[in-house]
Amino acid sequence: MTDVTMTVNGTARSAPAEGRTLLVDWLRDGLHLTGTHVGCDTSQCGACVVHLDGAPVKACTVLAQEVEGAEITTIEGMAAPDGTLGKVQAAFQEHHGLQCGFCTSGMVMAAAALLEENPTPTEEEVRHYLEGNICRCTGYHNIVKSVLAASGQSVEPVAG
Ligand code: FES
Ligand code: FES
Repeated sequence: MTDVTMTVNGTARSAPAEGRTLLVDWLRDGLHLTGTHVGCDTSQCGACVVHLDGAPVKACTVLAQEVEGAEITTIEGMAAPDGTLGKVQAAFQEHHGLQCGFCTSGMVMAAAALLEENPTPTEEEVRHYLEGNICRCTGYHNIVKSVLAASGQSVEPVAG
């Protein structure tokens, strides 16, 4: 075991890691940041998405020791210190973008990364970007709606 240090949600954090320790396990078990979920063992579900130096990554595909010194943002870093939800989180809440919530942290992190790259994506672009995130509950419609709403675009049908 070696102590690994990263900047997590703006604060320097250290926890031990073996050479084989995955970033997702380092966050969950080492730092007790359990908002990042593990939904598979095949790198397919996206429940573990965090931002690594500003880019979305599946934290189950990264070794903690390999990213020593990195800047990590997890779902816990998306709300303000007083608990006010970030705009993507608030849009998921308002537009029912979740049911059981298991996929939600990964969805929110992926969606936030999309909106950084492309502030006003089309519905098709949202669906394409979130292809790496699996949701068993929602049928995706309200997730897409939530992301479009978070981008400031209308998600309601135009009257008439
Ligand atoms: Fe990382 Fe499923 S836990 S992709
Ligand atoms: Fe249940 Fe997406 S809300 S898996």
